[in-house]
Amino acid sequence: MPDPIFERSITAFDVRRHDRESFACGVESLDRYFRSRARQDRDKYAAAVFVMAEGPGVIGYYTLSSYMIDPGELPHELARKLPRYPNLPATLIGRLAVDERYQRKGFGEELLLDALRRCFASTSEVGSLAVVVEAENAEAIQFYQSYGFIRFPDHGDKLFLLMATIRAMFEKWPNPKITVSTPTPSR
Ligand SMILES: CC(C)(COP(=O)(O)OP(=O)(O)OC[C@H]1O[C@@H](n2cnc3c(N)ncnc32)[C@H](O)[C@@H]1OP(=O)(O)O)[C@@H](O)C(=O)NCCC(=O)NCCS
Repeated sequence: MPDPIFERSITAFDVRRHDRESFACGVESLDRYFRSRARQDRDKYAAAVFVMAEGPGVIGYYTLSSYMIDPGELPHELARKLPRYPNLPATLIGRLAVDERYQRKGFGEELLLDALRRCFASTSEVGSLAVVVEAENAEAIQFYQSYGFIRFPDHGDKLFLLMATIRAMFEKWPNPKITVSTPTPSR
């Protein structure tokens, strides 16, 4: 687990504060996205981008977007218990990455829990019955599975976690260590 005294924050991506160029997580597509597309996605409201940083140094980032689940893609037993709509509202963690220098120190967990907390908090404004992630590789699949994410039967690199499970998780484990602050990003 990270040192609780370590000074860091998770805030909305701010191009003036966060150093994009030195970020390297080991997956080129995730580095490239952060360097050259994240700002545009944020400006066009295609994704909300959050950054964990210490000063200008970026430890990690994640993105959130609206998403639709085709209930036919879910395990049959589960789909039967959900509302019968052609598409089910969800929230997508499109990307989540930690800089290589900081991996395996608990920061990925902090980012993921922060993302789940925001996803759950936003359901009081916009409905969403699950969080979906798209994993880049086998390690990422294991990472998400260790927090209870379930693979879509026919799309093994896509996983979901029901919002009801997330609520239960936070009720059981409020995790007061994680603080959420969202200053308005500069444009
Ligand atoms: C996957 C990633 C986000 C994990 O972040 P991290 O800070 O290294 O992970 P944490 O230290 O918070 O690990 C938390 C738990 O996740 C699991 N986990 C993390 N990395 C893992 C790996 N490479 N393989 C298997 N399990 C892993 C473990 O259960 C770990 O707990 P433990 O260290 O006590 O065993 C990070 O390694 C990363 O950015 N990788 C490159 C980009 C990527 O693949 N992103 C995935 C999203 S598409």
